[in-house]
Amino acid sequence: MTVGRPKYLSYGRQFLDDNDIQAVVDVLRGDWLTTGPTVQLFENKLRDVVNSNYVTSCSSGTAALHMAYMALGLGQGDRVIVPAISFIATANGAEFCGADVFFTDVDPDSGMMRARDVLKLINDLTPEEVNSVVAITMVNLAGEVAEIEAISVIARQYDWKIIIDSCHALGTSYQDSKGVKRSVGDCSFAHMEVFSFHPVKTIAMGEGGAVTTNDKALYEKLCLLRNHGMERDPDKWVSKSGTPPPWYYEMQLLGYNYRQSDIHSALGVSQLNKLPSFMETRQRLMAKYDELLAGLSDYIKPISTTDGCSATRHLYVVLIDFEAIGMSRINFVAALAACNVGTQVHYIPINAHPYYLEKYGELNRPGAEQYYARALSLPLHVSMSEDDVIYVVDQISNILKGL
Ligand SMILES: Cc1ncc(COP(=O)(O)O)c(C=O)c1O
Repeated sequence: MTVGRPKYLSYGRQFLDDNDIQAVVDVLRGDWLTTGPTVQLFENKLRDVVNSNYVTSCSSGTAALHMAYMALGLGQGDRVIVPAISFIATANGAEFCGADVFFTDVDPDSGMMRARDVLKLINDLTPEEVNSVVAITMVNLAGEVAEIEAISVIARQYDWKIIIDSCHALGTSYQDSKGVKRSVGDCSFAHMEVFSFHPVKTIAMGEGGAVTTNDKALYEKLCLLRNHGMERDPDKWVSKSGTPPPWYYEMQLLGYNYRQSDIHSALGVSQLNKLPSFMETRQRLMAKYDELLAGLSDYIKPISTTDGCSATRHLYVVLIDFEAIGMSRINFVAALAACNVGTQVHYIPINAHPYYLEKYGELNRPGAEQYYARALSLPLHVSMSEDDVIYVVDQISNILKGL
């Protein structure tokens, strides 16, 4: 089936309707612009969606990662293990704290850290280096779930704290090894999980992020870190000298202004209300891509999926054997752009960026290199139709036929 050329299809974008706009307008007409009742509403709603005990929302996924690393007290001399494939913020958050990172390799077909990659890294490190590790951060890439149970077993053996970067996986659920259905974000196998609500993600807040946890002490620390380390609750004040004046608050640790606003949260609440329909649409479009791309499987395949996982992807990543098709990725991307099909690459291995290259030198991470050499994200967003998916796959077929 051939369908007409749509207007430019970006690889990802937000879907907003009149209810979203009205929700923001209502807040703009109210008394609170920054952290007020709508932030609380958003946090309660997200907590119910992901099934964690606590949620601290904040200004971005990057802020969420930084806060999570700060909440663990990371500092100079500490190390965090991260996968070589992720958005740079996964590693940067640890570096903001003055800590260093170790990069594991990843599965070349999913882009995700496996238990065997962690064991290989441990094997390559000196005992002192292993001792310096404070935390490990897994990434649930492109809506799939990493080997979180197996990796959490290793982490517990070494007494590492566990963070899961779930910025890509809001709405994903999976079965654990006991057959229990779990939501990404419920922190069953992590101390904290981290989300982003950037417009290309599953829900959009403009900018926004959150940390989920089941640990009350971590939650309380995250709330302080988000707001300059300021404690307003008299019961928690350090100073006990006399009756404090009414304007009194205490700065108990060095925090940031990573607050979420009521304006953003209004959009977040309204978008969370649509999450079930967003999930349904994204899964339908994913299934259409899967079905149509099966005919091109000699050259193109979707990233591998995790058993027992019902993924909600905000990205539809395919792996293309550019050598086998005899066309460079640059030319392939340009040919698709000429047909109004936008693409992006998620991600360049983090260790290959100049900052990390200069700091840690060249690393041999063959799985990450194989993944990166083939990865391309095709358009996937809620305003797309199945015809748009047919159009994208038709254009890919035409490019392949023309070779
Ligand atoms: C895996 C991952 N981690 C962290 C982030 C950072 O989120 P934000 O853009 O909201 O700061 C992103 C965003 O692209 C991401 O994809």
